[in-house]
Amino acid sequence: MALLPIIYAPDPRLKVKCRPVETVDQAVRDFMRDMLETMYAAPGIGLSAPQVGDTRRIIVCDVAREGEDPQPIQMVNPEIVWSSDEVHIAEEGCLSLPDHFAEVERPGDVRIRYLDENGEAQEIEAGGLLAACAQHEMDHLEGILFVDYLSPLKRNIILRKMKKLKRQKEAA
Ligand code: NI
Repeated sequence: MALLPIIYAPDPRLKVKCRPVETVDQAVRDFMRDMLETMYAAPGIGLSAPQVGDTRRIIVCDVAREGEDPQPIQMVNPEIVWSSDEVHIAEEGCLSLPDHFAEVERPGDVRIRYLDENGEAQEIEAGGLLAACAQHEMDHLEGILFVDYLSPLKRNIILRKMKKLKRQKEAA
């Protein structure tokens, strides 16, 4: 197991469209375990492969509340097969944009089809925090960040601060 370095925005590696996984093998399972470990250590509730420099369609989530048992979900090639007309607005953050948060509007409920860590096809209906988290992580697989939903003004303020943060980190 290993902690993977998380890529900070803005970065061209966060803007790529990821490619499907052909076989869920042990290497994929090991990678997903590393992704979960990296997400828990951050700490965060979701992580996508491009955030750790991988271009495969893989995401992990765990929206368990503090004090609850962990509920890790590992999704390979996830796709939304249904989404509610009803929308939900919630504040989102992102491990690639640390310390920045903004309200994002998304369908409140979604049905997601994916392959689990054993390569078995699964379909789940998600609402609430899991729905928002999964949609946010699936956006990453298309090269979309939550700031892309904001006005150009708000987006540029955040990205300017991120550039400054990255310069400071490089200089340190
Ligand atoms: Ni994110």
